[in-house]
Amino acid sequence: MEPGDVSTVIAIEKLSYPTPWPASSYLYELRHNTRASYYVLLKPPTGESAPPERGWRRWLRGVLGLSRESRVIGYVGFRLQLDEVHISTIAVHPDWRRRGWGELLLLTAVEQALELESRCVSLEVRASNQAAQNMYRKYGFRFKSVHPGYYRDGEDAWLMEAEVYEDAYGARLARLRRALEARLRWQQTGVGQNDGDTI
Ligand SMILES: CC(C)(COP(=O)(O)OP(=O)(O)OC[C@H]1O[C@@H](n2cnc3c(N)ncnc32)[C@H](O)[C@@H]1OP(=O)(O)O)[C@@H](O)C(=O)NCCC(=O)NCCS
Repeated sequence: MEPGDVSTVIAIEKLSYPTPWPASSYLYELRHNTRASYYVLLKPPTGESAPPERGWRRWLRGVLGLSRESRVIGYVGFRLQLDEVHISTIAVHPDWRRRGWGELLLLTAVEQALELESRCVSLEVRASNQAAQNMYRKYGFRFKSVHPGYYRDGEDAWLMEAEVYEDAYGARLARLRRALEARLRWQQTGVGQNDGDTI
């Protein structure tokens, strides 16, 4: 994530969180927090790389208008705290959900944690946020404790953690990565679902 991405990030943030972060929080993290990393997910190419025979002016406007900023469809951020990586934010634009992009962002954070030799990855999630909790469970996160009234609107947070240093976790992550890669490849190209890929 770069400062120029923040306006699109904030638009997604407002669609994703009941109590969104302001732009200033992201800009502070990007400019001053040396122990934080933030990534954006860019809209994948549509395959419409050549101009159509008719309507090429509209096509050209579309291509020229496709700035990096308008291509941001999701993001993840995390901070390194002693021997743990703490995920501070993760979201996918509502139009792009349920296609594996949230997993790709989570996987990015977890793999960075492994590179940093972290003991665990932790995060807070709203008690009512079933979608995110399911995603975290799929990646081996377990419920640890409740932080009563943690959010500004008074909702409780669940602290969840994944013990990423365990050998069994590495094998699980490798399986999840293979399955996710096959899913994304199939979505993008139609290749990989029934062509003998082992998942
Ligand atoms: C949580 C979020 C990032 C998931 O992104 P996504 O791209 O839709 O997720 P994916 O398609 O990668 O799904 C990954 C897994 O999450 C779970 N999941 C995602 N959306 C779900 C839903 N609506 N209902 C139930 N489970 C869901 C499933 O376990 C899914 O695995 P599956 O495809 O094998 O069923 C997205 O819903 C979001 O941006 N929510 C708003 C912001 C937010 O709540 N962030 C988390 C803060 S702690």
